[in-house]
Amino acid sequence: MKILVCGANGQVGSELVERARDFPVELIATGERELDIGNAAAIQRYVDDQRPDLLINAAAYTAVDKAEQDRERCFRVNRDASGLLADACARAGIPLFHISTDYVFDGRLDRPYRETDPPGPINTYGRSKWEGEQRVGERLERHLILRVAWVFGPHGNNFVKTIARLARERDELSIVADQLGSPTPASAIATTLLELASRLARDGDLAWGTYHYGGAPDCSWYDFATRIVAQLGDSSTRLNPIGTAAYPTPAARAANTRLDCSLIKETFGIERPDWRSALLEPGLLADYSKV
Ligand SMILES: NC(=O)c1ccc[n+]([C@@H]2O[C@H](COP(=O)([O-])OP(=O)(O)OC[C@H]3O[C@@H](n4cnc5c(N)ncnc54)[C@H](OP(=O)(O)O)[C@@H]3O)[C@@H](O)[C@H]2O)c1
Repeated sequence: MKILVCGANGQVGSELVERARDFPVELIATGERELDIGNAAAIQRYVDDQRPDLLINAAAYTAVDKAEQDRERCFRVNRDASGLLADACARAGIPLFHISTDYVFDGRLDRPYRETDPPGPINTYGRSKWEGEQRVGERLERHLILRVAWVFGPHGNNFVKTIARLARERDELSIVADQLGSPTPASAIATTLLELASRLARDGDLAWGTYHYGGAPDCSWYDFATRIVAQLGDSSTRLNPIGTAAYPTPAARAANTRLDCSLIKETFGIERPDWRSALLEPGLLADYSKV
């Protein structure tokens, strides 16, 4: 199975490249420099030249707060370019694995979100990703959309590294405790996508559609930060739980975007990854011990 990956330098993209060695696949990794997913002609050229069996889109505009000022670019990458990739896949007769987000939901439910719950994004990033999902769904039958949340890993910037850095610099941190979610290791997302690609290669088909895949256990940002600081062995940084209202951000945040992941378990036997053990991954927290 030959897989073309877009966005190969991002958190998930880098893990796909690293972990592909463990799977019976050949991976062609492209960053924006090699393949700008906003460029329809470039996508067509790449697909024609490389003749992949599957395309994985790990590219996205992910700066949630910046997106409120940079709306046009956010929609161009997350909605329009996702549609272009689906078009190219339809023309080539190949499937697309696409990654989306818990931020497609408005957070008003008091239980984890299922795939059948209607999206209702409350910020620009979430809207762009939801419209991107719809483009993919309208234009390509054989698509798999994996909705993930609160992604972290050794490559790139994320909440885990930010908390680790701040804990080193400060003695006290105030962290939002009334937003609940499912932190997801980038490594686990990559492994799951490669596992599904391998099944596709083996069986020639897959149960297409949208699946939720978030780490366990569900928690608040405050719980997440508490575990990160404990993992650092740092007992001198005090964490204060605060409410969303005390931490205003340019993009609105939903109170609950926990993902119900029963469908992926029932369909493929894939379990939620435990984010606590992923904090031990090499390269994630090693450089952040308090001096
Ligand atoms: N990060 C999260 O917390 C989170 C949460 C839920 C869902 N997700 C979803 O998970 C997926 C992977 O996210 P991630 O955290 O790995 O994101 P990331 O680290 O920000 O990586 C995204 C990659 O896409 C690249 N890219 C941007 N525009 C591009 C273009 N026009 N053509 C080609 N590449 C382009 C970026 O390159 P540059 O850096 O050079 O711009 C970057 O390398 C995305 O679909 C995201 O929406 C992420």
